[in-house]
Amino acid sequence: MRIDRLLSEAGLASRSEAARAARKGNVTVNGEVVRDLSRHVDPERDAVLFCGEPVERPRNIFLMMNKPEGYVSSTDDPSAPTVLELLSGRLKNVGLFPCGRLDKYTVGLLILTNDGMAAHRMLSPKRHVEKVYRFLLAHPLLSEDEALLEAGVDIGGYVTAPCSIEMETPCEGLITLTEGKYHQIKRMAEAVGNRILFLERVMFAGIALDPALARGEWRPLSAEELTLLSPYLS
Ligand code: URA
Repeated sequence: MRIDRLLSEAGLASRSEAARAARKGNVTVNGEVVRDLSRHVDPERDAVLFCGEPVERPRNIFLMMNKPEGYVSSTDDPSAPTVLELLSGRLKNVGLFPCGRLDKYTVGLLILTNDGMAAHRMLSPKRHVEKVYRFLLAHPLLSEDEALLEAGVDIGGYVTAPCSIEMETPCEGLITLTEGKYHQIKRMAEAVGNRILFLERVMFAGIALDPALARGEWRPLSAEELTLLSPYLS
């Protein structure tokens, strides 16, 4: 990894601060002063010192966020606030990104991580990771439409994989998907002439949304929650 990226992910210096320190000879790799911070190092093997202090490779971070409405699940969007803006200062600089997307008006459980490999595995269609959403429909769901949705419907050139639905009232229920196509649940509802009024993700890979987290709040995953992710971790 590049030295400047290592320093920024370790929370020690922004790129410009690191460049300034390097010009003064304050960055060394295996005892040698390094001024070109685009140089690559292996943080597990190379001894990188910043102002005399050893730089540790940051451990991978996994957060649970209760995404509020109106935020986009991306790292950069000129037209809307991103979920990263809800994080506190230092965590904005450690390479976190949302693991999968929730639409701007979908709320609930979002995992944020800086472990690209783990995210890739969790999002791989081959892994069939379960995602559970609570939904509210504009019209009662007919039992024949529920059966159609469970079997798979055409959402515009793509037939959805089988899923399961548990209705709690005629318009409200839980749906469990093992895939994640763009606007999938909204498009599934439309495929049977209905409409989603509210959508909240309540579970991802067996991890349940913490009811103690208000919308917009986040916390690190607990050890038990990380165990649920262990099949995907590096
Ligand atoms: N399906 C949707 O329509 N939107 C989401 O955010 C997630 C699943």
